[in-house]
Amino acid sequence: MESFGGEQGIYENVDILDPEPDTYKPTELPEREDELSRIHSALRPITLGGSPRNILVYGPTGQGKTVGVNLKTEQLLQWAAGEDDITLTVLRVSCKGAGKSWNVLADLVKKVREVRYNKTVEKPRGPTKVELFEMLSKDLQAIGGMVIIVLDEIDGIQEDSYVLYELPRASIEKVSIGVIGITNDYQFHENLDADIRSSLGSREVVFSPYDANQLRDILARRAAHALRDTYFEDGIKDSQHLQSEVLSGDVIPLCAALAGQDTGDARQAIHLLSTACDLALDDGREAVEEVHVRNAREEIQEETIGKGIRGETTQRKIALLTVLEADLAGETPEGTTQLYRRYKRLTKLVGTDTYQQGTFREKLNDLVHGNILEGDRHGRGRGRGMTNLYSLAVDPTLVIDKVGEDARLSEITEQLE
Ligand SMILES: Nc1ncnc2c1ncn2[C@@H]1O[C@H](COP(=O)(O)OP(=O)(O)OP(=O)(O)O)[C@@H](O)[C@H]1O
Ligand SMILES: [Mg+2]
Repeated sequence: MESFGGEQGIYENVDILDPEPDTYKPTELPEREDELSRIHSALRPITLGGSPRNILVYGPTGQGKTVGVNLKTEQLLQWAAGEDDITLTVLRVSCKGAGKSWNVLADLVKKVREVRYNKTVEKPRGPTKVELFEMLSKDLQAIGGMVIIVLDEIDGIQEDSYVLYELPRASIEKVSIGVIGITNDYQFHENLDADIRSSLGSREVVFSPYDANQLRDILARRAAHALRDTYFEDGIKDSQHLQSEVLSGDVIPLCAALAGQDTGDARQAIHLLSTACDLALDDGREAVEEVHVRNAREEIQEETIGKGIRGETTQRKIALLTVLEADLAGETPEGTTQLYRRYKRLTKLVGTDTYQQGTFREKLNDLVHGNILEGDRHGRGRGRGMTNLYSLAVDPTLVIDKVGEDARLSEITEQLE
C-alpha cells in the first residue's frame, strides 16, 4: 500500500506551489518593478486628494497582472489605513465568463454593499443594468472618498460594453473613482472601441513575457517558501543564492528554460515545478531531479492535449484519424486530396455524414490551430498552385487513446493499435 507519511519529505507548505493567484499572494514582485511603478504613478493623485487615473493593464497569460494589481492596491489600502482623512475603497471583480455587463455590475453592487454594511449580502437579481449602475453610484456616494475598481479579465465581457464604457467616465458626487481593467486577450485589446480605449486606457501598462532568468528567480522565491530546507544564502533572493536539500541544482533552471521557451508564463513554470515535486514524491524520493521535470512536462502536455482531443467533434476526430492513419503508414506529411480519400472511407465505416472536401480541409485546419496537427503549405511546382500538407503534432499513441474513448470511433482505433 502507498503510504502518505513521506509527503513532508519535500514540502514545507504544499499550497504555496499552487499557481492560482488566490491561494498564494506574493508580497514582492521585483521583476515587475517598472510596471508596478507605472500603476503607482497613475494612482498617485489619490495620495494628493485628487482623482486616480484609469488604467488598462495588458499582457499574455501568467505574467503577474492579477497578483501585481492586487499587491499595488493592497499597499495603497495599507497606506490609507494610516491616514486620518482618507477613505479608500477597493472593489475587485473577475469578469471571467461574465458575458454581459449586467453580471459584472451585479457583482460590483454586491461587493460595494458588503463594504458599506460590513456583512455578506446577496447578489441583486431583478434590476436592469442601468438600475444596477445607479445602485452602485448611490452606494459609492454613501461611502464617499476614493474608490478603485479592478475589473480583471475584462475580455469576459463579450455581449455588450456598457460597463466598460460607463464606469471609467462615471462622475459621482463626493467620490473620486479610478478603474483598472486587466486583459490577456490580444484580439479583445485590439478591438476595443476607440471611446473605451481612450477613457479606460488613459494609462496603458503592458506586462511583457518573462525571460528564463526572471522565471528562475520567481521559481526560486516560490521554492524557498514552499519546500523543506530551501533558503537563500546571505538573504540574497535570486536563483544563484538558492540552497536546497530537496532540489537538485538543475531543476529550477530547467523548469525556467522550458517555460521560457514556450511562453514565458510564470503560472506554467510554477505548475511544472510543482508537478515535478509530486512525481518525485510518487517515486518515494527525497529530492527532485531533472528526470522528474522532464516527466512532469510530458504529463502536463498529455493532459492538455488529451483534453483538447477529447473535446473535439466527431468530424474533427475523424479528420484527425485520417492523419493518424497516414502517419502509421509512413505517408505523412500528406496532402488534402489523399487525406480526403481516407476520410470518405472512414465516414462510411462509422456511418456518419461525409462532407465536401472544402469542409474537410477546414476541420484539418481547426486541428492545426489546436496544435494537434501540423500544417505546411507547399508549392506543387511552377504554376500549379499551393497544397497543404498535414502531419501529427502529437504522439500517435496519445491520439489512439483519446479518440478511442469515443465509442463510435473505437472500432477504428482498435484496428490501428
Ligand atoms: N514576478 C512574480 N513573482 C512571483 N510570482 C509571480 C510573478 N509573476 C507571476 N507570479 C505568479 O505566477 C502566477 C500567475 O500570475 P497571475 O495570476 O498574476 O497572472 P496573470 O498575468 O494575471 O495571468 P492571466 O492573464 O492568465 O490572468 C501566480 O501564481 C503568481 O503568483
Ligand atoms: Mg489574471
